[in-house]
Amino acid sequence: MTFDVSLRPAQMKVLASNKRFRVLVAGRRFGKTHLALVELLRAACGPDRTVWYVAPSYKQAKRIAWNRLKKLTQPFWASQPSETELSIRLQWGSVIALRGADQYDSLRGDGLDFVVLDEYASMHPQCWTEVIRPALADRQGGALFIGTPQGFNHFYERFEYAQKDPEWAAFQFSTEEGGNVTATELASAARELDARCFRQEFQARFESIGKGQAYHAFQRADNVAPCRYKPGSALVWSMDFNVDPMCSVLVQRDGDHVYVLDEIILPDANTPAACEAFYERTRPMWEQGRLTVQVYGDASGNQRNTAGTRTDWSIIRDFLASKREAFEAAFRVASVNPAVKDRINCVNSRLRNAAEECQLFVDPRCKELIRDFEQVCWKSDASGNTTGDLDKGDPKRTHVSDALGYYISQAFPMQQKAGERWQRLL
Ligand SMILES: Nc1ncnc2c1ncn2[C@@H]1O[C@H](COP(=O)(O)OP(=O)(O)O)[C@@H](O)[C@H]1O
Ligand SMILES: [Mg+2]
Repeated sequence: MTFDVSLRPAQMKVLASNKRFRVLVAGRRFGKTHLALVELLRAACGPDRTVWYVAPSYKQAKRIAWNRLKKLTQPFWASQPSETELSIRLQWGSVIALRGADQYDSLRGDGLDFVVLDEYASMHPQCWTEVIRPALADRQGGALFIGTPQGFNHFYERFEYAQKDPEWAAFQFSTEEGGNVTATELASAARELDARCFRQEFQARFESIGKGQAYHAFQRADNVAPCRYKPGSALVWSMDFNVDPMCSVLVQRDGDHVYVLDEIILPDANTPAACEAFYERTRPMWEQGRLTVQVYGDASGNQRNTAGTRTDWSIIRDFLASKREAFEAAFRVASVNPAVKDRINCVNSRLRNAAEECQLFVDPRCKELIRDFEQVCWKSDASGNTTGDLDKGDPKRTHVSDALGYYISQAFPMQQKAGERWQRLL
């Protein structure tokens, strides 16, 4: 059986290896899934073969691979593919099926000739050890592990192992080496992402997630600098509605650059108190002339309120309206908050992007914000892996950086070009 597909030189190198087990570490959009599909069809070219494509979840398997696999295999179908089983029977009796590692217990029992584990870094490692590896035993089946690094987790260990065992082969390629992403696109990603993120996602490097430090791009020497109020340009006031402490930041923007002039940290306070503090703190500014204030902050301030009967936002709205001689206000609050990870990625890339540009500066008087940048960590679960939530163990931490993050993520959102490119970046 012959079929016609194109493979790039780097993909060819993986395909040409005759090792039973292979590990491919590659950047986003390298062409990993494309190669996986070609590998599946090749492995199914023989009588009565059973080959599997496994993704971290059933839903993901369907979303990433199903339509592409149908298109590739259509000339060889024995019958219509089963949409419920996500399986395709080929004219010579072989079957290619999609599976999700989230239900790995239900996958036991089948003997396999070949399996691709796509996005293995996000997969339950037990899926391999407990289910897939035993299923390959009776037919001497092979396996291809593919993915983009996610810190030093089980994918890293598999990659290390593959470099030592003679039955295994290991490959590592950057996105650029895949040849599917233009140099312009890569340069644009380098400007948008922080350096560590770029190395991990596009250069396929295993990067330390540190001790879970959330704002890993922050460097006191580069990001702390005196920031002076510039009359005539708007003042950003961005809020977090925690009660103790209640936090907000005063910011000015100049093109791509962001300057944090001051922080307002009020222990055990409410929104009216924050308004009073804002009024006093900005006195030297509005005394020079009416001040344009752009208000940003926690979208959930619409539902909740720290003061009693009115929402936080209505209190701020009324306050600014009552000080018309001092302020001209514009509200830029998002309707929903971004995911925590996305918000922190936005701040990190402003602190230092992969092109090594620092575009976020904090005045040294912002002591709590600097503490947050240096101390806020991701929470880890029982097995020590970082989660998508911040560690809230210290009640003083996270709020003022949250306040700033609401502004940054709204004013400098990550672009959603190129499909899945920005997903799951940490
Ligand atoms: N050999 C190839 N020839 C043509 N296009 C390819 C090839 N390999 C990948 N592509 C295309 O490049 C893009 C990224 O490929 P994909 O396999 O989804 O990458 P990854 O899984 O590494 O993120 C897709 O649009 C895919 O169709
Ligand atoms: Mg893919």
